[in-house]
Amino acid sequence: MAKKTFIMDHPLIKHKISLLRDKHTSTKEFRELVSEIAMLMCYEATRDLPLKEVEIETPVATAKAQIISGRKIAFVPILRAGLGMVEGILNLVPSAKIGHVGLYRDPETMKPVEYYCKMPTDIGERDVVVLDPMLATGGSAIDAIGLVKSYNPRSIKFMCIIAAPEGLAALEEAHPDVEIYVGALDDHLNDHKYIVPGLGDAGDRIFGTK
Ligand code: PRP
Ligand code: URA
Repeated sequence: MAKKTFIMDHPLIKHKISLLRDKHTSTKEFRELVSEIAMLMCYEATRDLPLKEVEIETPVATAKAQIISGRKIAFVPILRAGLGMVEGILNLVPSAKIGHVGLYRDPETMKPVEYYCKMPTDIGERDVVVLDPMLATGGSAIDAIGLVKSYNPRSIKFMCIIAAPEGLAALEEAHPDVEIYVGALDDHLNDHKYIVPGLGDAGDRIFGTK
């Protein structure tokens, strides 16, 4: 059993994911929607950030106020498609650092192949959120999280926009200590290991390569 899996239930997220699925949505709109959905999901994934109390002067009085207590965060997009989620998230957490894991799914075996990895030097002091719009078989997320774990961050969460039940179960089993944030849980994988109904190839739709 995973530490916790959260399936998003917000009308704005549901609405934007429906637009994302539509095959008539343009590359420009698709990119904007991925960014907006990532920002809304980041709001949920940062709900447990610790706060501290400080004293501030309002124009009227001295007040005790709460601010985020300086916990450091890093976001790690899985290349390529995860890159589409970064801009929206940085709107909410502008001081976060960004690591990168490069993986692609071999079209024959459907297994992930690693080609790049670069983490912030102080990753060991950071809470990490790994980003990928699509969780299909789960192979890419499982390998990316394994790689991030080898750097010993404080904690790891995983955020995806669409998940297949097969991939979610595999990820929960492989990394039961990782909290998972899912925008929408779809029906199944087809014979080509694409999510049904899904949205097609997220990387191609973000970057206009198909
Ligand atoms: C897609 C997607 C995930 C992966 C999911 O990437 O962005 O990384 O497939 O599939 P899995 O759960 O079965 O591993 P892809 O390999 O198409 O690479 P890209 O982002 O470079 O297009
Ligand atoms: N990768 C994608 O981009 N889409 C899928 O449906 C499966 C893997």
